[in-house]
Parts: sequence; structure tokens; C-alpha cells
Amino acid sequence: MIYFDNSSTTRPDESVLESFIAANMKYYANPASLHVFGREAEALLKRSKEQMLTLVDNESGEVVLTSGGTEANNLAILGLAEAYSTRGNHIITTQIEHPSIINACRKLEEIGFEVDYLGVDAQGLISLEELEKKLRKDTVLVSIMHVNNEIGTIQPIGQCAELVKKNSRAIFHSDCVQSFGKLPVSMESAGMDAITISAHKINGLKNSGALLLKKGVMPHAINFGGGQENGLRSGTVSVPNAVAMAKAMRISSVQIERADYREWRSLLMEACRSYENIRILSPECGAPHILSLSFKSINGEVAVNYFQEQGIIISTSSACSSKSKSAGHVIEAIGLEKKFKNGVIRISFGNTTTKDEIGEFIKVLKSFMELIERGIN
Ligand SMILES: Cc1ncc(COP(=O)(O)O)c(C=O)c1O
Repeated sequence: MIYFDNSSTTRPDESVLESFIAANMKYYANPASLHVFGREAEALLKRSKEQMLTLVDNESGEVVLTSGGTEANNLAILGLAEAYSTRGNHIITTQIEHPSIINACRKLEEIGFEVDYLGVDAQGLISLEELEKKLRKDTVLVSIMHVNNEIGTIQPIGQCAELVKKNSRAIFHSDCVQSFGKLPVSMESAGMDAITISAHKINGLKNSGALLLKKGVMPHAINFGGGQENGLRSGTVSVPNAVAMAKAMRISSVQIERADYREWRSLLMEACRSYENIRILSPECGAPHILSLSFKSINGEVAVNYFQEQGIIISTSSACSSKSKSAGHVIEAIGLEKKFKNGVIRISFGNTTTKDEIGEFIKVLKSFMELIERGIN
């Protein structure tokens, strides 16, 4: 089978699994324990976090380990909004964020925060002018994702952070789950205060992620217990998870801006352009590993099933929305024409993808389009 669903999740790298097992066997002690095993585990945890921070150009910062991108995003939104609420109660985000950002913002609205959800154009891009206009004295937090998980739009996060710093006292957070390991992510040069990373999107382990914070940026805790992770995330810290995540980050960092992904994506786009009944939803200059397209008057599920029968795994717009019957919030936000709304699929590359697989996809696409044109769907 050909696996083109790497934006949902990736196959763990063997060396990541080996590191995880080795760390489990030798450094299984609780890093909060005072004995020698605990101190050794703590030292390894510290080294792993230092590596993570170096890889995002944030040496003096902090890492809060979480159960993944969802929890890190929840901590960013709920924890930072509460921690800085003495400055105000206004938050800015976008209409196309992952549900772990949008639903956390909705929760804050219930307790009195005011949230502006920036709209996007047909390519999924926000407007910097609109962001500037919305910034206020009482804006406490701005959260704008780097790469959109459904269509691959890359937001100009450096420019966003600059505007935020110039026009407000707000903290700037970015969900970098889909960008880390694919594009350069530098907290220092982009001026970001907090970013989210998830290990399973970069050939690491599921249920493992982190919120990386600039020095001095401190959210309030959103879970309570023994006060681990500087009081920000209670629960026994998994040193092997930290080791495995640092390893996955190291491996993926040397693979950024892959020219082959760009070439393959262009080949697929070119093939799609020869069919009138296909709309390409991803911007030309989007993330190199994501291509989203839509079939006119066809259900995305029909396409997913057809491709699967032919040995190719793809997804509808995203794993989170794949079981929902309505078009997702991203598809609504980009204003896709009605006839194309239900036919969205996403192809996402990973480090197992080959050029031959791209050729195979183009062949299967041709046969699918022939079937559609004959009215069989
Ligand atoms: C952009 C984005 N943010 C957050 C998440 C959530 O990450 P996790 O699955 O690690 O909770 C995802 C996962 O699909 C994502 O694509």
C-alpha cells in the first residue's frame, strides 16, 4: 500500500523507537526522585529539552512536555490567556486553526474573553492589515498557525509576530505542528513567544508533544497535581518520551525544505490541472508536503475508497474532520464553491514517499476521473 496520509500521522522512525526502548530500559526512574537513578533520568531529560530548544533557536527558553499537539495548544490558549489576563481579555486567532485552538478559544469566550477569528482568502491566507487593525491595548494573546493541516497554507508568522509586538503587549503563539521538520522554525528570528510541536507528525511517537516557551513567558497551569514541569504540567514526566521526541526533531530538522517534495507536489498539481472537475485548494507556494484538492459533485469518501481499492491511502480534508458529514471549518473559511465542498481529499508526503508512488497516484487519478466522467460514482 502507498501511504499518503502523513499529515494525519507518520510511521515512527526505527531509530526513534530504538532510543525510546533504550531510554526505557536504562532511564526508567522518576526524574523527580532524589536517588541516583532519578538524578540520571533528570540529567537526560534536561539534555533532551536542551536539544529541542536548540532546534527551534530558543536556547534560553523552556519546554513543557505534553501528551501531544492538542494538549500543548490547550495549555497555550487557556494557560497564557489566564496568566496575562491582568493586561486584558482580548484574543486573536484565525478561522482555520486546528480544533484544539478554536475550541479552547470558544471555552474562553464562555468565561468572558473576547475572541476575534481572522478570516482567510481562497488560499487560506490571513490579511496582515486585518491583523493590525484588530490588535488592541487589551489584546493578551495572538495565536496563528504556521502551516494549515488541511490545505497547507503557510502564514507569514514572522510578519505577524512583528505586528503583534509593535502594536500590542500580546503574547504571540504559533501552532507549528505541521511546519516543524518541513520548514525552518526559528523562535528567535520569527519573534515567537510560544510554539506547539507534536512528535507523531515527524516520525516520533503518538501522545507526545511540547509547548516551547521563550524565557520569561509563563502560562498558568491547566492541570493540577504534583507540580512537575515547573508546575505547568503535573504528572510523572516520561524521560523516554522526551528522548524519543528530541531524536525525531533532530532527524526531521535535517530534512527541511525538501526539493523532492516540492517537485512531486508540482507534478501532482500539473496532473490535476488537466481535469476540469478538479479544484486545487492548496496554494502554489504552500507547504511542500500537503496537497489538497476537490472533485466536483463527488464525495471525498468515494475518492478515498476508490484510491484505497487501488492500493493508495489518502484522506479527506483532515483526520479530525474525516468522519464528519459537513464540509469542515477550513473549507467553509476559504469559501469553496458548493459543488466542490464535499469532494475534498488531502495527499500528504512523508519520508517513506517515493517518486514512483507519485506516478502511481497520477495513474489511479486518471482511472478515477474516467469513471467519474462515465458517471459511475
Ligand atoms: C495543525 C495541528 N495542530 C494540532 C494537532 C494536534 O496534534 P496531536 O495529534 O498531537 O494532538 C494537529 C494534528 O492533527 C495538527 O495538524
